[in-house]
Amino acid sequence: MTKKKADQKLFRLLVIHGPNLNLLGEREPEIYGSMTLLQMNRQLKVEAKKLGAEIKTFQSNSEGALIDFMHKYRRWADGIVLNPGALTHYSYSLRDAVSAVQRPTIEVHLSDIHAREPFRQVSVVAPVCVGQISGLGWKSYIEGMKALMQRNSHAGK
Ligand code: DQA
Repeated sequence: MTKKKADQKLFRLLVIHGPNLNLLGEREPEIYGSMTLLQMNRQLKVEAKKLGAEIKTFQSNSEGALIDFMHKYRRWADGIVLNPGALTHYSYSLRDAVSAVQRPTIEVHLSDIHAREPFRQVSVVAPVCVGQISGLGWKSYIEGMKALMQRNSHAGK
């Protein structure tokens, strides 16, 4: 690596997975795909590196743990890629955490929540996010990372 490249600060992203996403691979694979969470996180690290980003990944089935993680790393992070799982549809605490940490956050979903049951078509988190990407499988996360980085580079101009 050249000195210049080593000096360039990598874009820092939190990649957060909500409840039940630890069961990826075995959970309704026809909807969520066959990749496990471990495989996905590994792949996301590789893709992030290619984009010039470093990521910290985290999954929890507990709302409080997700919020604690966001609080803990709020100053480290330049942005957040957040798949809140079912918390998307009803968690005002998670929504408030997104507002509170003041980091640009993209909501992502593996499945297309807008083509599913009515309760999934509502997100209480989306209004405080800078965008929502849904339905591209694990590539929703990659598009989320790209969108945050592009947004940042436009802001700098
Ligand atoms: C999900 C969609 C949610 O409705 C669901 O509760 C999940 C996963 C997705 O990634 O498609 O747990 O967030």
